[in-house]
Amino acid sequence: DQTSSARATPLRADNGEARNAQPMRPLRAVALLLVAAAAAAAAATPWAGSGQESGSISKDDFPGDFSFGASTSAYQWEGAAAEDGRTPSVWDTFAHAHAHAGDDSVNGDVAADGYHKYKEDIKLMKETGLDSYRFSISWSRLIPKGRGEINPKGVGYYNNLINELLDHGIQPHATIFQYDLPQILEDEYGGWLSPQIIGDFTAYADVCFREFGDRVTNWTTLNEPNALVSVGYDAGIGPPGRCSKPFGFADCSCGDSVNEPYVVAHNCLLAHTSAVSLYRRKYQTKQHGLIGMNICINNIVPYTNSTEDIAAAKRAQAFYTGWFLDPLYYGDYPLVMKENTGSKLPKFSQSQSKQLINSMDFLGINYYTFLYVKDDPHHAPSNKRNFRADMAAKSIYIAS
Ligand SMILES: *[C@@H]1O[C@H](CO)[C@@H](O)[C@H](O)[C@H]1NC(C)=O
Ligand SMILES: *[C@@H]1O[C@H](CO)[C@@H](O)[C@H](O)[C@H]1NC(C)=O
Repeated sequence: DQTSSARATPLRADNGEARNAQPMRPLRAVALLLVAAAAAAAAATPWAGSGQESGSISKDDFPGDFSFGASTSAYQWEGAAAEDGRTPSVWDTFAHAHAHAGDDSVNGDVAADGYHKYKEDIKLMKETGLDSYRFSISWSRLIPKGRGEINPKGVGYYNNLINELLDHGIQPHATIFQYDLPQILEDEYGGWLSPQIIGDFTAYADVCFREFGDRVTNWTTLNEPNALVSVGYDAGIGPPGRCSKPFGFADCSCGDSVNEPYVVAHNCLLAHTSAVSLYRRKYQTKQHGLIGMNICINNIVPYTNSTEDIAAAKRAQAFYTGWFLDPLYYGDYPLVMKENTGSKLPKFSQSQSKQLINSMDFLGINYYTFLYVKDDPHHAPSNKRNFRADMAAKSIYIAS
């Protein structure tokens, strides 16, 4: 998935150890990804292919209507960062602030140059045998000031991309937001930290549905907000690069690891349901599409079979995935999160809660790995704890 390949800087370090920073390389060959389409999942039949016995897997081992796909994100793929009216996003700012002088490969100015080479790439996708392709839309290319005026060249680019995919028999799946918030909104009101983002995100999503929804019928509102909150606001190792001492794995100039991840997650959830409500009200009956969210879900395994570690693994599941999935399916945060976070966790009103329930037609899963979890009690008061300390569990990644 593009999230892992976006490692201009280490993107996930939940175990407290930043992974080796790898320079961002052009993604001419996009990472293979099994597109988590509801249709494919629903049609899953027991595996019966010959590959199972021989230890190898082929396409024939999958149900006939399984959709094989690949995906990228706008900032990693498009390049053309300052072309045709696009303005900087927080990714541009972050990548440039951390760039080594003269080394283009650490920012997305050119990236995989998909903006210019999409036809070539789609030809490669076709040759690879892809059925679907998930791309993300660059908010600041479509609406350079974050809200208001629409950039016709941005609309034109995504129209061309979508039409080219369809001409090659490849289903376009669009992600509305993948970490690249327009810098102008970050500067104006702190981006995801402010509830103002909900209205602006919804208006941006409205433009996407209106312009592209006649052809795009699989919409992902947000890509991995559970990584965004941790990487961008607790660890500080991805945009917008916020964290506070003693937490964080970066030398952040500002941030608040204790509170901000919870605020951002809350606003992400509300922005998601707001866009979904709009889609369902205004577009879905006409456009017949599906809308959902995509989150990172790892397989969590207790490090030992002690009662403490088993409980810690359950807690970690609640904090890593229940944080988003419980609100999206049941309308509220997991109980253990409420207990462990004290007054830090924002609350949903009754109407927000109602709007959240079942606000997904599908759940997108980005799966990377399994991780061991062990108990790790913290005794500091909750206003001195970050997310990981509230979770009271330590994650141990085993390199595969
Ligand atoms: C969603 O994506 C799948 C897989 O690419 C595709 O078969 C389907 O037509 C798309 N749209 C809907 C509404 O399911
Ligand atoms: C814990 O118990 C399960 C089930 O009995 C077993 O499969 C697993 O290996 C055990 N894990 C450890 C770390 O001992």
